[in-house]
Amino acid sequence: MQQKGETMNTANIETTFLGMKLSSPIISGSCGLTSKLPNLVEMEKAGVGAIVLKSLFEEQITYDIQKNIGLLSNMEYGESYDYIANHITGYEIDNYYSLIREAKRSLSLPIVASINCVSYSNWVAYAKRLQDAGCDAIELNFMVLPSNVETSVDDIERLFDDTIAAIKRSITVPILVKVGKYFTDMAKFLSKLSWSGINGITLFNKTIDFDIDTNNEALKPASIISAPQRLYETLRWVALLSDKLRCEISASSGIFTGDDVVKALLAGAQTVQVVSALYENGIGHIHDMNEYLKNWMEKKNYESIADFRGKMKVKNHDNSAFVRTQFMKHYAEIE
Ligand SMILES: Cc1cc2nc3c(=O)[nH]c(=O)nc-3n(C[C@H](O)[C@H](O)[C@H](O)COP(=O)(O)O)c2cc1C
Repeated sequence: MQQKGETMNTANIETTFLGMKLSSPIISGSCGLTSKLPNLVEMEKAGVGAIVLKSLFEEQITYDIQKNIGLLSNMEYGESYDYIANHITGYEIDNYYSLIREAKRSLSLPIVASINCVSYSNWVAYAKRLQDAGCDAIELNFMVLPSNVETSVDDIERLFDDTIAAIKRSITVPILVKVGKYFTDMAKFLSKLSWSGINGITLFNKTIDFDIDTNNEALKPASIISAPQRLYETLRWVALLSDKLRCEISASSGIFTGDDVVKALLAGAQTVQVVSALYENGIGHIHDMNEYLKNWMEKKNYESIADFRGKMKVKNHDNSAFVRTQFMKHYAEIE
């Protein structure tokens, strides 16, 4: 939609992602904003290319079951537990199912469902159910924090391998895997993951963070909004990996401006996901980011995203700086 005072721009920002056609490489990432239909409608109006819905969390369902069981302590435990557990699980999955169906009825852009499970069987069961609802793809929100001293790299790799293989056998829609940064062998692991038959990897999810309240000596939630500096790690890994992976990359974390979108595409991302930027600036910000991208392309005489995507990835450019980690004088430019 053209806004007052804007000139007509001919740069084409359409792209493909996971085999789907997108009107823009900007995707609304999974968050509270993508759990409500009116927001999804607003996102489409603002020109977003696709939407990843808020994750369906198995852990949340378990929590809700425990809370309700706690309220009914005088009931016969065994039978009432099964009854309540089935009821709550059905209710929460049905709500998610309805959101997908309503979104597909009301919008014409791709809708990506998102799940995060604990048990192997539920990863598969939820994925199947959401595919039945009509989502165009599924993002597996696979954040792992290796905080247990007993857990080895092999355990974590096996968890990914087994779960993804089982889900792949059960659904036919494209699979996007969203990961965090906690891997000892990140490049090798993500390269292997990209050969597992998945269609894309989202780099990166972020953890929910906690701070310490020194007055009360208690924990308090840290800001949920990303710091803009998160962009640099995203760019580093997209640039390092985009030529190495067998699947597409969706860049996520620290993307706040249209210029950040350009950077991620230059690094080799197929799409970008925005979340904190929408909490900070509102959903209409997507329109401004699209306009920035078009104006930048016009200024550079690029007609399509393919004309410049990946120009700064590690194979095409002397990007040895991306593998630098130490503050040697020559690189840090400061004593
Ligand atoms: C309030 C909030 C809720 C989120 N909920 C989810 C979620 O349900 N599933 C998920 O995969 N990521 C979730 N995320 C993570 C975002 O999708 C995104 O990966 C992360 O915020 C980094 O992107 P950003 O820097 O653009 O915020 C959430 C983030 C925020 C701020």
